[in-house]
Amino acid sequence: MNDKNKYSNVTLEDVKRNPTVNAFIKSANDYLGTIGYTEHGMRHAGLVASIAENVLLYLDYPKRMQELAGIAGYMHDIGNVVSRYGHGQSAALIVMRLLKDMGTTPEETALIISAIGNHEEEAGDPVNPVAAALILADKSDVHKTRVRNRNILKCDIRYISKYDIHDRVNFAATRSFLRVIKDKKTISLQLNIDTQISKVMEYFEIFISRMLMCKNAATFLNCTFELIINERKLL
Ligand SMILES: [Fe+2]
Ligand SMILES: [Fe+2]
Repeated sequence: MNDKNKYSNVTLEDVKRNPTVNAFIKSANDYLGTIGYTEHGMRHAGLVASIAENVLLYLDYPKRMQELAGIAGYMHDIGNVVSRYGHGQSAALIVMRLLKDMGTTPEETALIISAIGNHEEEAGDPVNPVAAALILADKSDVHKTRVRNRNILKCDIRYISKYDIHDRVNFAATRSFLRVIKDKKTISLQLNIDTQISKVMEYFEIFISRMLMCKNAATFLNCTFELIINERKLL
């Protein structure tokens, strides 16, 4: 099969304009909010899309592969519209249907749904470059703006420890940035954490499996994964 048949013209912008995609992302985010989860809406979808796209851009992957990583990034959490549990698998099936209607080729759809089906910590492996980029992009989105617990937002710092550890760690993260350096073959997650709100150890307590996923994803892309918190290299 030549490249002409292998690739469609469906772009990330087309996906971002799809009303069903956006309605599902919005509803999924609302449902997660109801059960106390952090933000998984348009902000997370858009950010993960652009980080995933950039990971492959900076590593010189073909342009179409970059775009597919962006599409996978935008749609990866759509399965939360069904249930939080197994949302990677349900997302893959929903996305397969949506993308078929939009006109992606079977080869493109395969790359996107395999990436989405492999983004969860419990069952995720970097099975191809799009999947690896999605894992790195998704797991690097740790930021205070994701916290939805209104009480923590106005809480007195002295009482912060009574809040949920996930909210605390996210709330403490004032900056997160994924830096890809092709020449050094490194992918570094750089975080700034306000240690008055959460200790660095707490980050490891809840995110160690995510960091292992990132390490595997970086290795798949022939890079070394680094974790830098408050300018200290910890991994
Ligand atoms: Fe997810
Ligand atoms: Fe996500």
